[in-house]
Amino acid sequence: YLLGIDLGTSGTKTVLFDENGTAVCSKTIEYPLYQPQNGWAEQDPLDWWNASKDGIKYVVTESGVDPKEIAGLGISGQMHGLVMLDKDGNVLRRSIIWCDQRTAKEVEQMNRVVGEKRLIEITANPALTGFTAAKILWVQNNEPEIYEKCAHILLPKDYVRYMLTGEFATEVSDAAGMQLMDIPNRCWSDEILEAFHIDKSLLAKIYESPDVTGTVHAKAAELTGLAEGTVVVGGAGDNAAAAVGTGIVREGKAFTTIGTSGVVYAVSDKVSIDPKGRVHTLCASVPGKWTVMSCTQGAGLSLKWLRDTCCKQEVEEAQKQGVDPYIIMDKLAEQVKPGAGGLLYLPYLMGERSPHPDPDCRGVFFGLSAMHDRSNMIRAVLEGVVYSQLECVDVFRDMGVNINDMMACGGGGRSPLWRQMLADMYGIPVSTIQADEGPALGVAILAGVGAGLYPSVEEACDKLIKKNKTQEPIKENHDAYMGYYELYKKLYCDLKEDFK
Ligand code: XUL
Repeated sequence: YLLGIDLGTSGTKTVLFDENGTAVCSKTIEYPLYQPQNGWAEQDPLDWWNASKDGIKYVVTESGVDPKEIAGLGISGQMHGLVMLDKDGNVLRRSIIWCDQRTAKEVEQMNRVVGEKRLIEITANPALTGFTAAKILWVQNNEPEIYEKCAHILLPKDYVRYMLTGEFATEVSDAAGMQLMDIPNRCWSDEILEAFHIDKSLLAKIYESPDVTGTVHAKAAELTGLAEGTVVVGGAGDNAAAAVGTGIVREGKAFTTIGTSGVVYAVSDKVSIDPKGRVHTLCASVPGKWTVMSCTQGAGLSLKWLRDTCCKQEVEEAQKQGVDPYIIMDKLAEQVKPGAGGLLYLPYLMGERSPHPDPDCRGVFFGLSAMHDRSNMIRAVLEGVVYSQLECVDVFRDMGVNINDMMACGGGGRSPLWRQMLADMYGIPVSTIQADEGPALGVAILAGVGAGLYPSVEEACDKLIKKNKTQEPIKENHDAYMGYYELYKKLYCDLKEDFK
């Protein structure tokens, strides 16, 4: 057996898998998100630990599996969060998490002290409010008394590892999102640490994702029901873990996920960095590989917004039929041809990250006419999200990262209509996988590699991940979308200055 823990923003999901990758028992435990000010977002690391500890205890007890039969465990986590501990391992402040936007000044500071070009060369990304470095600088600048006491800086999942094993360790895929690493060389960057006055001794040791980083100690064994000595591997950031869980471990493969935000994630054998910083380059959880990744902030969020503001009738109809409102909304959108009758939607409800790192831009409906109704609006929103993801895939193509095999996941990946739009716009086949356990399965596979059950991440995925449906692109639809896509891209450029 293998254990996968996925430490998310709304809760932590713990899943026990058998050696075929089939889920045997699963438990999700939720916790609060604190928003002390507009744009701030914090969580309590002890909530993460309690959810992990209780989740493990639940699946071990409930499954009836002998804990000694669990060959290893891996942890996946929300990326970029800042955990600070004192010299005795106590939490010094709530974690400032990935979606917190308080660090505009620190981003300016990073560009000033390192230079925009140099920062991209080393860390593979432009200075970003969401990444960890800016959050560390914010604590230096605003809470010097806390920074003074700080002896260890960890990422969210690495705090849970510390509580299980006593080790201060991290791994390349998550550490890459701290903006403190030399990404081409997969190690901490002395130049960046010096420029930000961060002592290297505060940071954890970096491993490759399937490496063994420690074993469960006696006290953690007692609290979780695990056997003392159970192997804990590096694990991965949530997207890098989802990549393994969907078999995206070789060049040419990618996944698109549509959750609240939307991600396109592709694997590459070499490090490719966009000099304009439009998409992220990070280390992959497959040893020796890299990834390019985009984030559309308002993906599923856009459809949810439309549902909650304009689709009361569909929500009521769905209640009557006992189905998900999105199914009824999809049916309406299907009545409209590709192009939504000339109605375009820009999904920037919460600003944007890729391919336009711009906190000021906002959503747009363009081309509304008296002929349009909600079916056009729903279709336009679905299409607008995919145009945004296509724009990111075009940046990948510019960087020499070509994709010939795309998986669709997340809530949006369950919609056949949305998947067909992905296939039509990208111009490549789009598939789903049979068991969509995502990040938890991904880190369980990494644990299997670390524990010696499989020779490599690639071979483990070949054995365990099975494709489900594949949808082929339809040429006629592709051609119809491409005309609108040109206009879609032009709209942001034309409106950019007016959002400020
Ligand atoms: C990745 C990112 C999110 C978080 C939260 O850059 O910000 O995927 O990891 O899920």
